[in-house]
Amino acid sequence: MMKRFLVQAVCLLIFICCNAGVCFSQKRTIDQRVDSVLKLMTLDEKIGQMNQYNGDWAATGPITKDGDKQEQIRNGKVGSMLNVTGVDHTRTLQEIALQSRLKIPLLFGQDVIHGYRTIFPIPLAEAASWDMVAIQQSARIAATEASAAGVHWTFAPMVDIARDPRWGRVMEGAGEDTYLGSMIAKARVTGFQGNGLGNTDAVMACAKHFAAYGAAVGGRDYNSVDMSLRQLYEIYLPPFKAAADAGAATFMNSFNDLNGVPATGNKLLQRTILKGQWNFKGFVVSDWGSVGEMINHGFSKDNYEAAMQASNAGSDMDMESRSYIQNLAKLVKEGKVKMPVIDDAVRRILKKKFEMGLFDDPFRFCNEQREKQQWNNTQHLIAERDMAKKSIVLLKNDNKLLPLSKQTKTIACIGPFAKAKSDNLGFWSYDWPDDSTRIVSLWEGVQKKVDANTKMIYAKGCGIADTSHAGFAEAIEAAKNADVILLSIGEARDMSGEAKSRSSIQLPGVQEELVKALYATGKPIVVLISAGRPLIFNWTADHVPAILYTWWLGTKAGDAIADVLFGDHNPSAKLPMSFPIAEGQIPIYYNHYNTGRPAMNDSDKFYRSAYTDLSIYPKYPFGFGLSYTSFTYSDVSLSAGTIKAGQKLTASVRLTNSGNYAGTETVQLYIRDLVGSVVRPVKELKGFQKVELAAGETKTVSFVITTDDLKFYNDDLKYDWESGDFEIMIGGSSAEVKKATVNWNK
Ligand code: NOJ
Repeated sequence: MMKRFLVQAVCLLIFICCNAGVCFSQKRTIDQRVDSVLKLMTLDEKIGQMNQYNGDWAATGPITKDGDKQEQIRNGKVGSMLNVTGVDHTRTLQEIALQSRLKIPLLFGQDVIHGYRTIFPIPLAEAASWDMVAIQQSARIAATEASAAGVHWTFAPMVDIARDPRWGRVMEGAGEDTYLGSMIAKARVTGFQGNGLGNTDAVMACAKHFAAYGAAVGGRDYNSVDMSLRQLYEIYLPPFKAAADAGAATFMNSFNDLNGVPATGNKLLQRTILKGQWNFKGFVVSDWGSVGEMINHGFSKDNYEAAMQASNAGSDMDMESRSYIQNLAKLVKEGKVKMPVIDDAVRRILKKKFEMGLFDDPFRFCNEQREKQQWNNTQHLIAERDMAKKSIVLLKNDNKLLPLSKQTKTIACIGPFAKAKSDNLGFWSYDWPDDSTRIVSLWEGVQKKVDANTKMIYAKGCGIADTSHAGFAEAIEAAKNADVILLSIGEARDMSGEAKSRSSIQLPGVQEELVKALYATGKPIVVLISAGRPLIFNWTADHVPAILYTWWLGTKAGDAIADVLFGDHNPSAKLPMSFPIAEGQIPIYYNHYNTGRPAMNDSDKFYRSAYTDLSIYPKYPFGFGLSYTSFTYSDVSLSAGTIKAGQKLTASVRLTNSGNYAGTETVQLYIRDLVGSVVRPVKELKGFQKVELAAGETKTVSFVITTDDLKFYNDDLKYDWESGDFEIMIGGSSAEVKKATVNWNK
């Protein structure tokens, strides 16, 4: 007994020395260091590492609702906190953690979804840029700022594929496409984690929500998901796989049940696929309260059972359910959760703490000077403006109304967004005390851009969700006195986001009526739509000459919009989601199956897969977006008409800038497998390139295609390709492509 005590005491001493950075421990591998800590831990301390609490922290001090959180941290019962940021706050709690017996540092997690101090466009908007370098940089900057404020871990990227714009969380992801979503997942993970965990400007990424959360029935948040395994593997999982392959340190599971099993208690997802087939070495955190919510699902009888099911299924950390901290010890004692399950979870969590360097210096993210430096980083604002302008989609530009002249005599700037500040930030963003000066409104952006002699008139017209027309008269008056109307409308920042599903995705309130009233003045009108999802605005789309989709663009929104309006930036963004004509078409997505009775057009309705009362086509298709110039595509030429396994195919087009401006086209490659052992989509995105062309210039754009691009999950869920004919399509949107056919044989 005495001997055991002595051994433990010596181990503890060595461990404490190591934490203070005074011994040889760095020479050991992280796995060895993890094991040496694990050996010292009691069961309660291990369970503590699997427990995460919310901060409930106010600027003036701790206001934790259940006052004993700090005590629990001191007693080694908490492994991580969320929603505690700022060097001051994180330091205070870290100091408390270091009073615990083993001095294991806390991890601080935060939803840094599209920026921390500098707010970038919402992820869906960034996805419209199709610009992986810019997206990676946006995540890099978010990580730099957040890590300087003590944050170790962001709950991003959200990589859920979403085909239903009623679902408010479409704003957080990359849209409907698996290929684009996978590229963006990689860019974001790489951006957040920078040169690797262990650098003080890197935050751990968290791919979420694992899995299929985006397919919630009816677009209703937290709702059930029922889908075939092929859909799951083919459409919904690849962006997660891309995130794991890019080294994402963590995953978050999701609120939904998948085919009857809540994701949090889902072994297939977490053990078989993620930690098994994909060999993921990081840890999985539950979503907020999702362990306990398995009781509501009717999957767990009580919290005891929920803790058992979640931990056994591979959920390593419990976010705010308190199910683990209250039940795991008993479950282990009763043999319902085996020690290796606990050890595996704790090992994964400790490993990340080591990789973050927190055992060497728990305060390495608590540097006031760095926090201050990153508080006003002008380079970040420049990058934000750049990302924002790249995210703006030009939906319509009749008679080349845009770009506007900077010498325009009088501009009427109208609408609830004309002078908006915080609504430009969108959901999942932070408000800072100096927002009123830092955020650039449309009004300010335009004012800075135009000639000193340009007169600007403002009228609000209506509020975002107003039902009153009281402001219309003033707006009409302003319009009548102007040469051009800029009408800025859309959704308030809390209309899309978590728990923000809407059954109607029309423009809120009387905003479209305001469009009609201003259009009736006969003045040229440019409509700018700020939103967190595809909205429906058919009247506007059919009547007004120019429309820019401006999403929620972040801190420099007004500057970025002005850059586009006045031609300093020629738009090249393309929609990452289909925009429906009516909610009745939802879910609507470009990569659907053909069916046995496909309608050839909207007149072809007789016993066809069509609606008797509605078009089958979206208002704006996936991949669509205009430029101030125009691009002409030649036919597709293939390097061969028939090829064999192992060979590569090159598909090319000649792309000409046939307009008057230099511009960038996002050239898209789609493939269709014409006959398969299971039916295949009418087209699938398999590549894209952003090509810059001077006015009048022509370039050859080529894609190299391999049999990897032809693979799919067959009836036995085997991932392979099959011999046959394939349509190779290249174009500027999913609905406008040139085609050629290749015969590819094994
Ligand atoms: C619930 C959300 O679903 C998740 O995405 C988020 O990271 C957590 N809350 C923490 O805020």
